[in-house]
This record gives sequence, structure tokens and C-alpha cells, in this order.
Amino acid sequence: MKFKYKSFWRKSGLKGKWGNIYLEHLSHFKPINFLEIGVFCGVTARNTCDYLNKIHGDKFSYIGIDLFGGKKNTANNEVEPDFLKDQKFSNPFKNLYYNHILKENLNSIESNTKFLKKYKKNVKLIAGDTNSELKKINLSNIDYTFLDGGHSYDTVTSDLEILYSNLKGKNKIVLCDDYGQASMITEVKSAIDDFVNKNRINLKVIKDRFAELTF
Ligand SMILES: C[S@@+](CC[C@H](N)C(=O)[O-])C[C@H]1O[C@@H](n2cnc3c(N)ncnc32)[C@H](O)[C@@H]1O
Repeated sequence: MKFKYKSFWRKSGLKGKWGNIYLEHLSHFKPINFLEIGVFCGVTARNTCDYLNKIHGDKFSYIGIDLFGGKKNTANNEVEPDFLKDQKFSNPFKNLYYNHILKENLNSIESNTKFLKKYKKNVKLIAGDTNSELKKINLSNIDYTFLDGGHSYDTVTSDLEILYSNLKGKNKIVLCDDYGQASMITEVKSAIDDFVNKNRINLKVIKDRFAELTF
């Protein structure tokens, strides 16, 4: 079954062909319990829930964690993709609609809760910095993680270490964004390479962008 990634007139980290490449990857693993680190405006969350609902009906869970506009624990060493800086849209109609008519911050927990309300029984959104909050979440049954939150070396390392301490030896998948040339963030790549070498993890590069790690 082919599933098409939709943008829902919001912003997404997975533009153009990347959404479909992500969904194709997800469809190889068909996870029941899913974690997204870095929800942003919820577009990948919504596409993921639509897909998991299609294949599992009501029997899936989605956990998403994001700062949702709150404060980071770490000082100023975070590396942010440019599209995160302001709620600016190249499309003037979107700008008018979200910034002047609805006055809605698409990265807020309220906006994401509303956007995902169709799946409210399956979805749990957590506001906070993964450097302190990720270890408080029960990760033991997570089958598949999309790691796309803080992009600094320290945050990526911390997220991977926490995931690994919960999922080690369970044959679970962590898909990391911004590893390969297509969207590489040097700090992300270095953190992943150091983590993988230290723990002797299997790494597969997907379409020159994502790093697939098997724990
Ligand atoms: C690249 S965006 C995520 C894009 C999203 N996965 C998608 O596909 O549309 C990164 C998100 O990570 C969040 N973030 C950055 N640092 C974080 C941290 N330390 N803890 C939790 N979330 C963080 C940002 O607020 C932002 O929404």
C-alpha cells in the first residue's frame, strides 16, 4: 500500500520527496509504539498517525516531545535549522491565515493537540527539553523513534544515550534526520558517528539523508 505524505498547509521538516521517503521507511517496520523527538508543527506526527491507524486501527501509540516554545535547559549551543527561526511563510496566504486571522503558533502544544485530536486516545504530547525530560518517559516499549529534536552535539548524544539505555538489545529502530549530505548538520553527524563507534551500533544511511540505527 502506497501512502502519500501530506503537508496539511503547515510547515514540516520533511519537504518535497522527503516525506514519502520517510513514510516508505516507516512502512518497512510497521511499528506499534512510536516516538518522535521534535514535533515542530505536527505534520510528520499526523502523517505517522494516519499511516499507523491505517495499518493497525486503534492499536498504536504516538509519543511526541518538543520544547513547544518553552525554554531549553542547555545554554545557547543549540543548532537550529533556519526554517524554525520565525513563523514566516513564503506563501502570503498562509501568513495571513495563521499570523493574522487565526493568530495561531503552529509549534505550540495547543495547536498540535488540536491538529492531532482525531487520534487523542493514541497520542501523548510532552512539552519539555529532552535533555531533562526524555529520561522521565517510559521508553521500554518504543519500536521506532524519529530523532529530529535538538540539533547540537550534546543534545543528540544525550538523546541517543537515553534511548540506548532503554532499548539496547531489543532490535528497535531509531531514524535520525540530518545525517547525510542531503541535509547534513555537522554536529548531528559527529554526535551520531561518535555514539555509533562507541557502542558498536549498526548504522545504515537512507537516501543520503537519514541515519538508521538498530539498537
Ligand atoms: C526540525 S524540527 C522537527 C521537525 C518535525 N520532526 C517534522 O518532521 O516536521 C525540530 C524541533 O525540535 C524541537 N527542539 C529543539 N531542541 C529541543 C530540545 N532540546 N528538546 C525538545 N525539543 C527540542 C524544536 O522546538 C523543533 O520544533
